[in-house]
Amino acid sequence: MAGPQATLRPSLEFRLSAWVSALLLGVAIVAGVFSFVAACEEANELQDDTLRQIGALIERNHLPVGNAITGLPDLDSDPESRVVVQLLANANGEAVGRPSATPLLSAALPDGLQTVMVEGESWRLFVTTLATDTRFLVGQQTELRDEIARDGAFRSLLPFVILIPILLVVLRCVIRRMLNPLNRLASDLDGRNEQDLGTLSASGLPTEIRPFVVAINRLLARVEQSVSRQRRFVADASHELRSPLTALSLQAERLADTRMSSVAGDRVAALRQGICRARLLLDQLLTLTRVQEPSAMAVSPVSLEQIFRQILEDLHPRAAAKSIDIEVTGEQGASIILAESDLITLLRNLVDNAIKYTPAGGRIDLSVGVDDRGVVVEVSDNGPGIAPSERALVFEPFHRVLGNDEAGSGLGLSIVKAITDRYAASVALDYTDVAQSCGLRVTVSFRGSERNAGTITQR
Ligand SMILES: Nc1ncnc2c1ncn2[C@@H]1O[C@H](COP(=O)(O)OP(=O)(O)O)[C@@H](O)[C@H]1O
Ligand SMILES: [Mg+2]
Repeated sequence: MAGPQATLRPSLEFRLSAWVSALLLGVAIVAGVFSFVAACEEANELQDDTLRQIGALIERNHLPVGNAITGLPDLDSDPESRVVVQLLANANGEAVGRPSATPLLSAALPDGLQTVMVEGESWRLFVTTLATDTRFLVGQQTELRDEIARDGAFRSLLPFVILIPILLVVLRCVIRRMLNPLNRLASDLDGRNEQDLGTLSASGLPTEIRPFVVAINRLLARVEQSVSRQRRFVADASHELRSPLTALSLQAERLADTRMSSVAGDRVAALRQGICRARLLLDQLLTLTRVQEPSAMAVSPVSLEQIFRQILEDLHPRAAAKSIDIEVTGEQGASIILAESDLITLLRNLVDNAIKYTPAGGRIDLSVGVDDRGVVVEVSDNGPGIAPSERALVFEPFHRVLGNDEAGSGLGLSIVKAITDRYAASVALDYTDVAQSCGLRVTVSFRGSERNAGTITQR
């Protein structure tokens, strides 16, 4: 079914053009018919008057009709416009012959105006009888009259015929213009990320489209409500689970302090590890719901140098335990305008991953680049990296690459993505060493954006 016709049928432009053309064509035909009928009547009357006047002229002036008059000289080359005067019967009432150039007409024709067919052609005749009983007729072909009527009809049709293509072009332009606000609306919606459920502006829109925008806005508000309800539920559930888990953790610690067999000790250690993982998972869940919340946090220029120092202080012990070197390079003096806690969470998750997935004795590089479009932060390590086929998936919540022995929630990169989305920044994954297909390089670009708070300054 798909094809040009299927596309055309729902097109407003096509339907309007078809309707307007059909309507115009109908009006043109009706106007043509009317004009034809009116012109016919007028031409008829004109012709009849002419015939009658010529008859009266001959009668009044006692012009000699003679045997046959083709009296009027043949001035016109068009035979259809020729007026023929012909004697039908002489003073004795006898029929007379006709001159060779004139049609054969019956002497029995009654007086008055009439239309007769002669030798396949239609003639309008005015027959009259003189006081001397001489009968003659004045005649002219009706072809001329019909031609005048046809010309009249065509002339009234012509403006419509010219108007239709012009109208179609104008209609097309007008419809395009009218649909422009709709296209703008569509691209506005298209350009949004899934967090952006703010209302659409109805200003400048035609009144017919406004109810549609109002309905979309109402739907967006309902979706926003539902999404925030779900987020709140996850946040509340994580929060509620924290207290019993803390209590459980305390009990497990106390249990570990008691005297027990080595087997029981191993079990308790495993139990404490499990509790620790569950707490980490809950913390990450809470962080994810927080960063997915529409931003109402105060933003300010945040110095990267300061954030790096804070993160390295926190994570240094873990890096040292694995003999991993962390080096910071580039323009650390750069600042980014955002909520400080968001930048800390983002970088902490990336550096945490790098420490976790890089083998002992490895190396991690943190670098900052500044160009005229903004700040780019890179975190690279010399671990196994992430295969290209997995790169989109690891941003999904709870997705962890198979064959991975490290403990984790699978939420770290989802948190990173939610934060970059919040500031219209971007995050990309690549190998650190592309030739060897190893090491992970995470590039976060904070490009200036008018819509979000992630604008850039440089110290
Ligand atoms: N630096 C890295 N090197 C190798 N693999 C990584 C790195 N960072 C993340 N990954 C992979 O991406 C997955 C998702 O990461 P993340 O969302 O932080 O979850 P988690 O670290 O809790 O498993 C990880 O399970 C891991 O397989
Ligand atoms: Mg992680």
